[in-house]
Amino acid sequence: MIKRSLIMFFLMAVSTSALSDETQHESMHHKMKHGMNMKPLVEDNRISLNLSPKMKQHQLANMRAHLDAVRQTILLMAENDFNSASDVASKQLGMNKRMMKMCHRIGNETFKTMGMTFHESGDELAKTLKTGDLQASLRALNTTMTSCVGCHATFRQ
Ligand code: HEC
Repeated sequence: MIKRSLIMFFLMAVSTSALSDETQHESMHHKMKHGMNMKPLVEDNRISLNLSPKMKQHQLANMRAHLDAVRQTILLMAENDFNSASDVASKQLGMNKRMMKMCHRIGNETFKTMGMTFHESGDELAKTLKTGDLQASLRALNTTMTSCVGCHATFRQ
C-alpha cells in the first residue's frame, strides 16, 4: 500500500513537471512569435546603399556574374589556359565603361572607390595571368577576392 502511493506520487510529480515544461515552452513560443524582447541574433551594421528595387536586381545580377567570372578564371588556370583566363579577368573583372557606369550609379563615394580598386585589381589579375605564372596569378586572384570580401563587409543593399 505504501509502495503504491509512492508510485502514484512519483507519477504525479513527473506529469506536473512535464506540464509546466510545456507551459514554459508555450510562453516562449508566444514571445518568439510576437517578437517580445527578441533581438536579432546577428546585427547587420553594414552601410545600406538604399538602392531602388530595379537597381537591386541589376546589382545582384552583376555580382553573380562576378562570381561566375572568378569560377571561370580558376577553371581556365587549372586547364593551363592562361590566355583565356586573362581574357575573362580583363572583360569581366577589369575596369571598363560598363563597370564604371554601374559603380557610379550606386552613388556612394566609398563604394565607388572600393569598386574602382576592385576593377583595377581585375586588370592587374589579367596582366599577371598573361605571364602564365600560376603562383603569382593565384596571389593576384587573392588580391581581387580581398576586394570582394572588403566591400561585402562594408555594404549591403
Ligand atoms: C564595391 C563593392 C563590392 C565589390 C567589390 C563586390 N561586391 Fe558583391 N555585393 C556587394 C553588395 C553591396 C552586395 C549585396 C549584399 C547584401 O545586401 O547583403 C553584393 C552581393 C553579392 C552576391 C550575392 C548575389 C545575389 O544574387 O544574392 C554575390 C554572389 C557577390 N556579391 C559576389 C561578388 C564577388 C565574387 C566579388 C568579387 C569578385 C564581389 N561580389 C565584389 C558589393 C560588392
